[in-house]
Amino acid sequence: MNKTRNTLPPQVRKEAIVVLNNTVADLFDLFARIKQAHWNVRGTTFIGLHKLLDEFADRTLKHIDLAAERATALGGVVEGTLRESVKHSQLKKKEEPESISGMADWIHTLADVHAEAGGQVRKGIKKLTDAEDFGTADLLTDVLRTLDLQLWLLEAHINRLQT
Ligand SMILES: [Fe+2]
Repeated sequence: MNKTRNTLPPQVRKEAIVVLNNTVADLFDLFARIKQAHWNVRGTTFIGLHKLLDEFADRTLKHIDLAAERATALGGVVEGTLRESVKHSQLKKKEEPESISGMADWIHTLADVHAEAGGQVRKGIKKLTDAEDFGTADLLTDVLRTLDLQLWLLEAHINRLQT
């Protein structure tokens, strides 16, 4: 870890850097899946979803940058390559089958992955709130709010959701 004047105890900074690197990995994974859907989705309402997914991708990239810069601000080293992200992503490694081209299949797949990413971020917020790293917890809360919003925007495309 790099030295910093930040008064957070080194042990807390270490914990936060791990959570932030995991978040970078998860969000890069999510970003690629969003783009995969943006490129391959087909259906009568194609253009709406195609454009919406680009907004998701832009927001996700911004959050990757914020999480990565928070990790370095706390004295950490960012594991920000795609190779590292694939290795460390906590999202299920399931790849979308090539046969998925229908609107509903993409929406369900992306909704699953958003819910999973949100769950991981929520765990990180709890951990870092308990450790009193309120700056990182706040940053992650913003990420979580965006993931929850995007999940809703996806689920709103589906008529009936099983609970
Ligand atoms: Fe595009």
